[in-house]
Amino acid sequence: MLTRADLNALPEYVPGRTVPGAIKLASNEVPYGPLPGVADAIAEAAGSSHRYPDMAVVALREALAERLGVAPDRVATGCGSVALAEHLVGATCHEGDEVLFSWRSFEAYPIIAATAAATAVRVPNRADHGHDLDAMAAAITDRTRLVLVCNPNNPTGTSLRRDELAAFLDAVPGDVLVVLDEAYREFVTDPDVPDGLAAFGDRPNVVVLRTLSKAWGLAGLRIGYLAAQPAVAGAVRKVITPFSTNGLAQAAALAALKADEEMRRRAALIVAERERVESSLRAWWPEVPPTQANFVWLPLADRATEFAAACDAAGVIVRAFAGDGVRVTIGTPDENDIFLTAAEKFLAG
Ligand SMILES: Cc1ncc(COP(=O)(O)O)c(C=O)c1O
Repeated sequence: MLTRADLNALPEYVPGRTVPGAIKLASNEVPYGPLPGVADAIAEAAGSSHRYPDMAVVALREALAERLGVAPDRVATGCGSVALAEHLVGATCHEGDEVLFSWRSFEAYPIIAATAAATAVRVPNRADHGHDLDAMAAAITDRTRLVLVCNPNNPTGTSLRRDELAAFLDAVPGDVLVVLDEAYREFVTDPDVPDGLAAFGDRPNVVVLRTLSKAWGLAGLRIGYLAAQPAVAGAVRKVITPFSTNGLAQAAALAALKADEEMRRRAALIVAERERVESSLRAWWPEVPPTQANFVWLPLADRATEFAAACDAAGVIVRAFAGDGVRVTIGTPDENDIFLTAAEKFLAG
């Protein structure tokens, strides 16, 4: 056999489906198009496509560092934050070391652990669909190298509060890296859900992972970033695929960051719609957990696939996790209305 036998058992990453003409509420994208200035910046950068991009990503790392209030040597960028998560596993794990995370969570986690031949340790979510931090702390062993904490959690939307996260971080040994995956940070409105960098960024073993794919509208360009202590960020920059933050992505990200007011305005529109969708759904399915992200979770168990099929028939693509639940991205008000009509028919009809 030419490739590793253990990969045979590994499921492939399943992206949200795109169906021409259908409303896509399956990938947690923001529906409003690129931020102002982004398309022009890409067009300009396209003229230099025959050149390699700045491998050190200096201008963008400086812009991110300034925004985050950290030194640029604490920042690394990558081909989406998912690639950075993969690099973090590569920078911490030898074969057989353990990567710990809550489950169900972001479906790339088991895949990135397996890519590095690390062992994925899944700690079941609590009955309220949130991370069970006590059980996660108890599951740490001598082999644990990396813990992934997804806040808010994809796909359940649940969030961890400042105090419980602080207590968890206190319980984690100092030689285990904890990644706070905050892909949906810009949609968080609950003041008790901490900004991981502001609250815990001074801890040597904490990494904060964020993305420009969601609120910043750059999913198609693949760009994410992390902030960590200089030694950790430096190790990640070493294992990164050279030039993987491409030139168009760097230019687009710089332009997007300048449009932060508009980003915030759009995120607020999503938050307002989130509240409407969440409360409508809860009237028909009371188990819908509170969400701080740009999606809602319907814990429909063995009706999940059937629900997604009913949405499909109404022209709305949602994300079903068979036997568990359905994740639905918040779209424009019109898109949400069409989804809610289909949901009501299924849940209340
Ligand atoms: C929790 C979480 N982390 C990371 C990512 C990866 O995002 P990207 O690679 O586009 O930055 C996603 C995307 O869905 C996510 O939900």
